[in-house]
Amino acid sequence: MTAYPKTAALMARGAEFLGSRYAILCGAMSWVSERNLVSAISNAGGFGVIACGAMSPELLDAEIAATRALTDRPFGVNLITMHPQLFDLIEVTKRHRVSHVVLAGGIPPKGSVEAIKEFGAKVLVFAPTIALAKKLFRSGADALVIEGSEAGGHIGPVSTGVLAQEFLPELAEDHIVFVAGGIGRGEAMASYLEMGAAGVQLGTRFAAAAESIAHPAFKKAFFRANARDAIASVQVDPRLPVIPVRALKNKGTEEFTAKQIEVAHALDAGTLDMAAAQLEIEHFWAGALRRAVIDGDVERGSVMAGQSVGLVTEELPVATIISNLMGECETALAGRGRIG
Ligand SMILES: Cc1cc2nc3c(=O)[nH]c(=O)nc-3n(C[C@H](O)[C@H](O)[C@H](O)COP(=O)(O)O)c2cc1C
Repeated sequence: MTAYPKTAALMARGAEFLGSRYAILCGAMSWVSERNLVSAISNAGGFGVIACGAMSPELLDAEIAATRALTDRPFGVNLITMHPQLFDLIEVTKRHRVSHVVLAGGIPPKGSVEAIKEFGAKVLVFAPTIALAKKLFRSGADALVIEGSEAGGHIGPVSTGVLAQEFLPELAEDHIVFVAGGIGRGEAMASYLEMGAAGVQLGTRFAAAAESIAHPAFKKAFFRANARDAIASVQVDPRLPVIPVRALKNKGTEEFTAKQIEVAHALDAGTLDMAAAQLEIEHFWAGALRRAVIDGDVERGSVMAGQSVGLVTEELPVATIISNLMGECETALAGRGRIG
């Protein structure tokens, strides 16, 4: 018996796919999604995902082992496709028999999906267009995450509401599709589940949870912020391959603009090529996010947060956040069809 029968019915495919009680993923967040948060999410019935980010294979190895020691529930590992040691990282997930690998940050390079599937793990991918999503499913991807521009971190240009209308009618019947970006309450979950989503992915809501190791100043910045404080970075020079990042507006946001101008000048002077320029920008983000999450420098660090940050007003245990989401979703679904 479940306290959430309508929600559970709509989540059944997603929960079966993930091996979790609820089809609620906590999206990988660099520096935040480590052993404590990931195990707490999975122990509470959701699905935690370790953010590998720029970790070395040795560090990832230790993080997976430490997470396993804290939970016997399934969890995933998020790998960034442009990591120079991607295939070594895949080997680490294979050694640990990780059940789900999420490939993020670009089109998976040749052989990567196959290498993961070869040891029996399921592969989750992101795709900005339906054509690319179909191609990835054809080449073996098991599930898709669509993520709208309301989300925290690196974002695309299209809102979750529009992506859901584009992708779900076309793909959700035959494929597992999770919806991410801007989800802060269960009522929003209910709508996407009714549209055919197999489940949802949240980040911002969980980043300030009690079990998150984020610095108290980082969490406090979340509790104070409104939706309109979480802004997308601007691209200063159209040549620069800058993927916009949504974060709370602060001095760090301005420093990023200055960094882009510096990199653009280096491109003009020929001291950097385009690939090196992109790497400089990504290193800037990784360093700035660490400064905010770990050191608590919320003025100059990057406080990545989605627009749902306005709904995050207090530090709650993961289990409470999940039961609130499930309860809100169930109430919304139970109220359907009632007029007046
Ligand atoms: C602080 C922060 C860091 C993030 N880092 C990553 C990351 O390293 N890799 C990734 O694939 N997504 C990352 N994301 C995106 C989340 O995994 C998730 O998809 C997103 O937060 C969902 O939207 P929401 O913030 O509106 O809930 C990050 C998000 C936040 C808020």
